[in-house]
Amino acid sequence: MTARLELRHPAGRTTIRVGAGALDEPAPEVAAAIGGKLVFLVTSPAVAGLHAGRLAALEARAREWRRLDVPDGEEAKRLEVAQELWREMLEAGGKRDSSVVAFGGGTVGDLAGFVAAGFLRGIDYVQVPTTLLAQVDASVGGKTAVNLPEAKNSVGFFHHPAGVICDTSLLATLEPAELRSGLFEVVKIGAIQQPALLDAVAESLPRLLEGDAGALAPIVAAAVAAKIEVVEADPSESDRRRLLNFGHTLGHALESVFGYRGLRHGEAVGYGMLFALRLAERRGLDAAAARRVRELIRRIGLPPLGDFAIDELLERTARDKKARETGLAWVYPRALGDGRIDAAIDPAEIRATLAEFAADPWAG
Ligand SMILES: NC(=O)c1ccc[n+]([C@@H]2O[C@H](COP(=O)([O-])OP(=O)(O)OC[C@H]3O[C@@H](n4cnc5c(N)ncnc54)[C@H](O)[C@@H]3O)[C@@H](O)[C@H]2O)c1
Ligand SMILES: [Zn+2]
Repeated sequence: MTARLELRHPAGRTTIRVGAGALDEPAPEVAAAIGGKLVFLVTSPAVAGLHAGRLAALEARAREWRRLDVPDGEEAKRLEVAQELWREMLEAGGKRDSSVVAFGGGTVGDLAGFVAAGFLRGIDYVQVPTTLLAQVDASVGGKTAVNLPEAKNSVGFFHHPAGVICDTSLLATLEPAELRSGLFEVVKIGAIQQPALLDAVAESLPRLLEGDAGALAPIVAAAVAAKIEVVEADPSESDRRRLLNFGHTLGHALESVFGYRGLRHGEAVGYGMLFALRLAERRGLDAAAARRVRELIRRIGLPPLGDFAIDELLERTARDKKARETGLAWVYPRALGDGRIDAAIDPAEIRATLAEFAADPWAG
């Protein structure tokens, strides 16, 4: 059983299919984006080694299928890697009607989307996310990016894929830490938008942590549906879409302080949510609701947080690309399901709250 969702955006619509076996029955839009074309499969050797065989139904539709390997992780999201792909694509005869298939985690997806957006001013692409984080978040919404040494995600385009295929049976091979990391993004969307999702995660957590495709499918579908709602309301992230940054303002700073290796993105978001819940409790979120989210984060499981200097963390927070000229915005739920974007929090309060958080991230 697969679910079919649709995201409408300024350039058209994206079909998103979710479920165990979704790869075996490509949507007509996906078939059209690939059928009879020269298709560049952008993937990493690790992911292709595990799952390339699962792409048979897509590959069979292409006129020609060229695999382009990229490194795994943030190493993929570099301009040099994008340039290398563009050159290989030109060399292989890539044209405006060629397509890209992104097959990997959020890093491979962000890079492949960026490459598709830039090649000959933009060609079609299909996202086949293979991590939970990429299925519930990175592959949906049309944001593509590479990193510069100075700042993560600092160069990119909005370029929506023709289709997204979230086949949850790909997730069984993920390391438990990667599953946890993705679940924190689900908690994020549940807390600010859809509290029922928090219950759903709590109920099936043991199976989710085993990478059970059947248990994951409804969770991924619900998280994607919630993200679609936010993205459709604000496709270019001028306002409402910033709700998706719950846990991310501090999370990005933590990732940056720990050098993107000590802490996975989702784990940093887990800690970022714990921090933002403190701000939320002072602004109307009741203690029981905060406890419920905290408890779920604890059950999912975070690695210990290393030591950090508060001043350094504050400085990185201010540098976050989400900081606008109007100041830094913090996102938190006023009540569960009712996310707020708040640009008026006094820096002194942030500093004091960070000191408390550093002493005990879990306290309320
Ligand atoms: N574009 C967006 O809107 C958006 C949103 C959220 C995150 N992101 C980006 O996503 C990236 C993080 O993505 P991620 O968490 O997927 O990390 P990732 O791409 O680094 O993948 C994590 C690890 O999982 C491995 N892996 C992938 N699929 C696997 C599978 N099926 N089985 C076993 N191992 C597998 C990879 O080899 C890698 O080592 C960040 O760069 C972040 O900026 C983008
Ligand atoms: Zn995130």
